[in-house]
Amino acid sequence: MTAPLSLANLTAHYGTTKVLDDLSLDVGEGELVSLLGASGCGKTTTLRLIAGFLVPTAGTIHLGETDLTRLPAHRRNIGLVFQNYALFPHLSVLDNVAFGLKQRGMASAARAERARAMLARVGLTPLEERLPGELSGGQRQRVALARALVIEPPLLMFDEPLSNLDAKLRVDMRVEIRQLQRANNTTAVFVTHDQEEAFSISDRVAIMDAGRIRQFDAPETLYQRPANAFVARFVGFENLIALEARRREGAIVHAEGPGGISVALDQDRLGAIPDRFTLATRPDGLRVTAQPEAEGIPASLGLRTYLGRAYHYQAETPAGHLVASGPLSRPLQSGDQARLVPEAEQCCILPEGEI
Ligand SMILES: Nc1ncnc2c1ncn2[C@@H]1O[C@H](COP(=O)(O)OP(=O)(O)OP(=O)(O)O)[C@@H](O)[C@H]1O
Ligand SMILES: [Mg+2]
Repeated sequence: MTAPLSLANLTAHYGTTKVLDDLSLDVGEGELVSLLGASGCGKTTTLRLIAGFLVPTAGTIHLGETDLTRLPAHRRNIGLVFQNYALFPHLSVLDNVAFGLKQRGMASAARAERARAMLARVGLTPLEERLPGELSGGQRQRVALARALVIEPPLLMFDEPLSNLDAKLRVDMRVEIRQLQRANNTTAVFVTHDQEEAFSISDRVAIMDAGRIRQFDAPETLYQRPANAFVARFVGFENLIALEARRREGAIVHAEGPGGISVALDQDRLGAIPDRFTLATRPDGLRVTAQPEAEGIPASLGLRTYLGRAYHYQAETPAGHLVASGPLSRPLQSGDQARLVPEAEQCCILPEGEI
């Protein structure tokens, strides 16, 4: 039933404005891939191309062997769960779920049986006679999910399906979606601008910016080894520092930057370090110390904020404004001179020029 999805060199315009630029993406059979990015970056547009609501100006879309690029939307057989993809208000929950089966010509008894089985899986059996107006938001979203799944589509697509739900229900529903998608081994594309949601539900995530994919990888890779400055900042590496390797001792690289910056970095923990590179760190990856250590980034401390497990410090340095962290046991004051020392667990190496 299921099939891989392949987008190749897609370009899309609204009028004369280009909103997708040479976008390519491969989603494996049974894989769940999320498109993650800020508002307006082109996530919904990508889904609209796949669903057939919009025709690309260049590029192709394949689902398995089938070329979908110019196939009419109603012949694409894709299950859609959109944030505002309304249920039929005058049909019961059961009839809403059975609707797609009726369209496909299934006999009445058979489709009621299939729809009931799907309602049981999403936990809505007691509500099958209700109208959509008599349901909560979360229940309605589950009906929409059942309606998309019941036709056993080769491809499922979700556009911010959980953004109207409260925090607890959102987490429960994403687990449910993932379990159903896994159980049916359905290829799926999931759109969200919530990083935690994307990372928790997906096999791989495509991070988008201005109509392009900036990195497409497993969540763990994106979080620990971003490929460029855009993705690094997106996953919380707030501090980007341009450095040059000066001395190599085994795996240890001694690197320097402007204004007396001198740091020791371990290639066994950070991966290969080229002669010129950008060091990216999260605030927790730059430790503040008042000790006059041999190596570090000289800093003048500014505002200190309390985060429960540590303090964060705004710091002015020769590499510009950085955010660092320090232990609760020894708080430093605004105006103190200090050194910032990178901690490998919360650092990564970017190519030269990524800043
Ligand atoms: N029907 C339309 N006509 C003209 N421009 C459009 C249309 N729909 C979207 N756009 C523009 O295309 C760009 C991409 O929009 P898209 O809806 O794909 O973004 P998105 O990533 O889904 O954002 P959001 O997270 O806000 O839903 C935006 O700049 C948007 O303003
Ligand atoms: Mg959108």
